[in-house]
Amino acid sequence: MKIITKTKELQNLLDSLASSSVSIGLVLTMGNIHAGHLSLIKEAKNNNDFVITSIFVNPTQFNNDDDYNSYPKTIDQDIAKLKSSSCDLLYLPSIDEIYPEGLVKVKSVLKYRNILCDITRPGHFDGVTTVVNTFFNIIKPKNSYFGEKDYQQIKLIDELVKLKKLNINIVPCTSIRDKNGMSLSSRNSNFTPHQFEIFQNLAKKINLFVNNLKEKNLKLNFKEFKNDLSKIKINKIDYLEIRDENNLEITNDYNKARLFVAVFIGNIRIIDNFKLH
Ligand code: PAF
Repeated sequence: MKIITKTKELQNLLDSLASSSVSIGLVLTMGNIHAGHLSLIKEAKNNNDFVITSIFVNPTQFNNDDDYNSYPKTIDQDIAKLKSSSCDLLYLPSIDEIYPEGLVKVKSVLKYRNILCDITRPGHFDGVTTVVNTFFNIIKPKNSYFGEKDYQQIKLIDELVKLKKLNINIVPCTSIRDKNGMSLSSRNSNFTPHQFEIFQNLAKKINLFVNNLKEKNLKLNFKEFKNDLSKIKINKIDYLEIRDENNLEITNDYNKARLFVAVFIGNIRIIDNFKLH
């Protein structure tokens, strides 16, 4: 696996690949590579000639310095994992390489805003769409792969591609889940043993709740569930909502809906979503 840190060098290589019509599959990450990322890389390799993975912890999508600084950085282990995957090239740019004019973010996508993560993480999606647009412009992949854990993010990136008229296919991929039923997340490696225990309890509560919603077609009783979560020491809940998986509107029709969850364990924010059909 080749590792490139400079955009110019990457572009030279991409030019030579383009001249021999090599199709590029892209997996954008912020590192702390786990089985979820590796499954995206596998999917990319199955459908493209050449797979590029990026690792870049994007400062403009964090809401505060503490969150940015505590984001797990495990570059040596990441490189080892990528080397034994089917990734052909790791693009590992510096902040200056991606933001030569300083840390700016642009509000471009207006759809799917003022709901879910956009309410509790103001400006987060401007940072995401800004950096994704930069990566897309540099790499111009044929296909780009994203995990469904960050469901709203995929919706916004889909809109970004339409808005900028990019010729890139966005491929949503089912989340890889832990044995406990929760989607894998880079942030989870920061859990203390006590927080991990709370996470396991959260998983049990959510699984039970989702099964009841699905099988008994129960209505979401937010108050009761919130109360249930406080018993396992989860007191900070950003949202707990059932939304249509196509337009992200609130719905009671579970045939095309998901339960969207964002809660905190200590200062670790967990987001996930669960199909109700
Ligand atoms: O999902 C992520 O890890 C990030 O939001 C992304 C898409 C790599 C942009 O920084």
